Amino acid sequence: MAMRIPEETVNQIRQGTNIVDVVSQYVQLKKSGKNLFGFCPFHEERTPSFSVAEEKQIFHCFSCGRGGNVFTFLMEVDGLSFPEAVIKTAEMSHIQIDNALLENRGQQQETDSKRDKLIQAHEESADLFQHVLLNTKIGESAYQYLLDRGLTKELIETFKIGFAPHERNMLHNYLVGKEYEEDLLSETGLFVQRDNGDLLDRFYNRIMFPIRNQQGKTIAFSGRIFQSEAEEHSGPKYLNSPETYLFNKRNVLFNFDMARATIRRDKEVILFEGFMDVIAAWNSGVKNGVASMGTSLTNEQIHMLDRVTDRVLIAYDGDNAGIEATKRAVDLLSAETPFDIEVASFPEGLDPDEFIKKYGTTAFTELLSHGRDTVFAFKMRYYRKGLNFQNENERLSYLDTILNEMLSITSVIERELYFKQLSSEFDISLDSLNQQFQLLFEGKKAQRIKEKNTTNYGNYEPEPEVYYPEEMPPIEVQTQKRKIDLVEQTERFLLNRLFHFEEAWIQVQSQQAEFYFAHEEYQTLFILFENFKESVGDQDSIDAFIDFVKEPQLKNLLVEIEMLSLSDEIASQEIDDYIDVIARKSVLHERLKEKQTELREASRIGNKDEIRNLTLDIVDISRQLKNK
Ligand code: CTP
Ligand code: MN
Repeated sequence: MAMRIPEETVNQIRQGTNIVDVVSQYVQLKKSGKNLFGFCPFHEERTPSFSVAEEKQIFHCFSCGRGGNVFTFLMEVDGLSFPEAVIKTAEMSHIQIDNALLENRGQQQETDSKRDKLIQAHEESADLFQHVLLNTKIGESAYQYLLDRGLTKELIETFKIGFAPHERNMLHNYLVGKEYEEDLLSETGLFVQRDNGDLLDRFYNRIMFPIRNQQGKTIAFSGRIFQSEAEEHSGPKYLNSPETYLFNKRNVLFNFDMARATIRRDKEVILFEGFMDVIAAWNSGVKNGVASMGTSLTNEQIHMLDRVTDRVLIAYDGDNAGIEATKRAVDLLSAETPFDIEVASFPEGLDPDEFIKKYGTTAFTELLSHGRDTVFAFKMRYYRKGLNFQNENERLSYLDTILNEMLSITSVIERELYFKQLSSEFDISLDSLNQQFQLLFEGKKAQRIKEKNTTNYGNYEPEPEVYYPEEMPPIEVQTQKRKIDLVEQTERFLLNRLFHFEEAWIQVQSQQAEFYFAHEEYQTLFILFENFKESVGDQDSIDAFIDFVKEPQLKNLLVEIEMLSLSDEIASQEIDDYIDVIARKSVLHERLKEKQTELREASRIGNKDEIRNLTLDIVDISRQLKNK
């Protein structure tokens, strides 16, 4: 059962929204002429080819060809369905909509599917936990604890943090009261089963952090141990939901859904180790932070990040475990995709949350923006841990490791900088360092060539993750632009005029012979627009037409046509000229088809003369078509 939002409401929301306000939350836009430009959020690019036309209320990327109105944008960027995008737009523009619609949203989508019920059970559990934390006596001390840690009520609400009290049947009773069946409840992972089959709340005496999926739905919890002094508690500091139908911790990054817009805008994600770090950073205005679920980064998580950014700042704890985890993260990230990686190191073994508490928000944001290390600088520190440089062997082995690492630095200037550092610290001449480096470089290269030659293609092995300065891959320029011939260009012009000028319609309709566009997709747009005009009346708005056209390819084409810059007035002969070019082409096409049919017939009966004549005709028509 799909949710239906009344046409009128959809129009009202579209008209009440400025696409620029919505897009700006994902893309940094700069005004240039009539339009605004920025980097396309749908693919990587080095020069901005994404544009928003405020007048027309549409967006278009000249490089990947995607385009549409505000709803299309949210559907693509956030992976929403059309109704979801409409509702999100309303929310973003603070347009009041019928409550029934919002409630619908919670319940309607496949009301009967297990997935939805499981999610709903999680959402209701989060509500209950939060209620207990904020409004009840048993939640009081946990609430106070969070306030003492520097959280505010607003922040607690933003992250829907809650409390699971000591009793082990509160959640169970609550959900049973809401008519969830035991079978479903046992699948939520929120309960443990006693020998007699009864379900007990899994989480008790814990501060509850909802874990949300990419759509912002709660699919699991992590509970942090909490007890008043009188009580005993055992178990791990953080307890996560087990793997369930909804939850696979490999696929989840804490806070990814809320951070995504800022990640895209700032073109950078910050990786933290703990939930509390993400939340404390958010509280300091740093809203592009995410954390994995108490494990090393997984490939799945790295791919999630790869889709939204190519720059990662690792901001793990400053203790030994954090430094080891940073090294692992650096290796994983650089093995997967060429992310730009930097490292923020916190002093005195502090974690980001503790650092903020101790030194304040300003020191924190300062460290994040100016106290970063390159990966290499981090590695230099990492490898010297525990070494004794009085010992010649340890010194040499350190130098060897560092020079080896340096093979992956492509910037000559950066390399030079580290050479100088090493040279002065170890009192070795730049020349010797350089010579040693060249030796390693040649060695690696020879090894790589050997590996290449012995590669078994049935059993593909990834290239070693070393970049060689002379063999840098060329930067890929995204241009899959198709060549457009004169007729097609003319069809675009004509459609653009038809979208905006009634007189163009009159001219097309007053043709003696029936008029067809030469290419199918333009003819389809033409017919669709005719229908649109009839059903919507004289509403001359292309952003509304975009919703009318359902096929994505056609939408993109439509936007491309709308983005053409034509003069404000139609010239006197203009429409006739267009029709002329297009019609002549369609006539030729028809004639070509006829001749081809005749040719097939002639070949079948073996009429040699006829075959010869027809072939000449076909060549001639084809030539004319090409020149048109
Ligand atoms: N973690 C976990 N299980 C544990 C301990 C930690 O899953 N037994 C994960 C959690 O995701 C936690 C992260 O590892 O957020 C970082 O752990 P830690 O540094 O111990 O937590 P903090 O963020 O410092 O938590 P707090 O400040 O509340 O002590
Ligand atoms: Mn901490």
